[in-house]
Amino acid sequence: GAAELGPYRHYMQKEIFEQPRAVADTLEGVQGIVPELFGDGALRVFKEVNSVLILACGTSYYSGCTAKYWLESIAKIPTQVEIASEYRYRDTVPDPSTLVVTISQSGETADTLAALRHAKSLGMDKTLTICNVSTSAMVRECKLAYVTRAGAEIGVASTKAFTTQLAGLFLLTLVLAQAKGRLSDEEEAQHVKAMRHLPAALQAVLALEPQVISWSEDFANKENALFLGRGLHYPIALEGALKLKEITYIHAEAYAAGELKHGPLALVTSEMPVVTVAPNDALLEKLKSNMQEVRARGGVLYVLADADTKIESEEGIHVIRMPEHYGPLSPLLHVVPLQLLAYHTACARGTDVDKPRNLAKSVTVE
Ligand code: G6P
Repeated sequence: GAAELGPYRHYMQKEIFEQPRAVADTLEGVQGIVPELFGDGALRVFKEVNSVLILACGTSYYSGCTAKYWLESIAKIPTQVEIASEYRYRDTVPDPSTLVVTISQSGETADTLAALRHAKSLGMDKTLTICNVSTSAMVRECKLAYVTRAGAEIGVASTKAFTTQLAGLFLLTLVLAQAKGRLSDEEEAQHVKAMRHLPAALQAVLALEPQVISWSEDFANKENALFLGRGLHYPIALEGALKLKEITYIHAEAYAAGELKHGPLALVTSEMPVVTVAPNDALLEKLKSNMQEVRARGGVLYVLADADTKIESEEGIHVIRMPEHYGPLSPLLHVVPLQLLAYHTACARGTDVDKPRNLAKSVTVE
């Protein structure tokens, strides 16, 4: 009811603003990188793991896609991410040394549970879930678990569940890296420090809301939008497009920016805003040339740059500058303005933000 909403208009907005608290709670018990954070006997399991298979649906699938970059670059563990409803019906080559990781806000999504049971039936008994509900079937049926502490999420479009999943997945990456002897004390200290800083960093990003509102005014009367990202931020572009579709009913697509010339460039006109997630990382120069390709076709860019990225607003380029440069945890921060963009665009269009048409919060039937 209204009392629970406090100063917010919708649950989604409230949940977006709860993210500093949700991530802080999720990481609260973390003093150092300790395998037992994932359950008794976790170290023994982690030492035997040679690869990771992530299974999930919807927004949870995109957090898995992000984690793949961390697991391969930091823990050096080959990682596959698969949509649960595809995996369960496909012939695969089971490997008992694979850690099967399910990601789920509710812990009750039918396809994800079925995919887990399918993996187990193939002899893969090293199972772990990143889940927001400690009493769920997912937690009961996995050997290991990390329970995120987002709290109840009511808006159908997932927000704080996503960022807390990312926090849990980053922790999993560090624990696996350590179990494999691939994490120096210095690296551990650096990563733990960065995780501790997340709540404050999220708070600072939320303060960008007025700038995002001004972008949303441009988006409200559009029917199509394109989201671009590269590397670690490609899944964030996908999640940004999903949020926009779900609650504004604007058709949105996300592309790995390098694929622009292989198709979506044909769609670019001044009527199709192009959102670009552009932190100052190794891929920035490549991304800038993708942006020029968009500008050359009259496309209008909406760029999320970080503090170190020297891209300025000019004709056809709208820049929101993030307060810092965040390194590997950058996806957790860059997703927030995209959540706010979808939210405020939906408000401007007058859609039912918390209960978008045709969608359910938890899909417990196939
Ligand atoms: C539904 C929800 C999404 C969610 C997905 C997976 O589609 O609307 O927000 O990401 O299910 O749900 P889960 O509870 O498994 O994360």
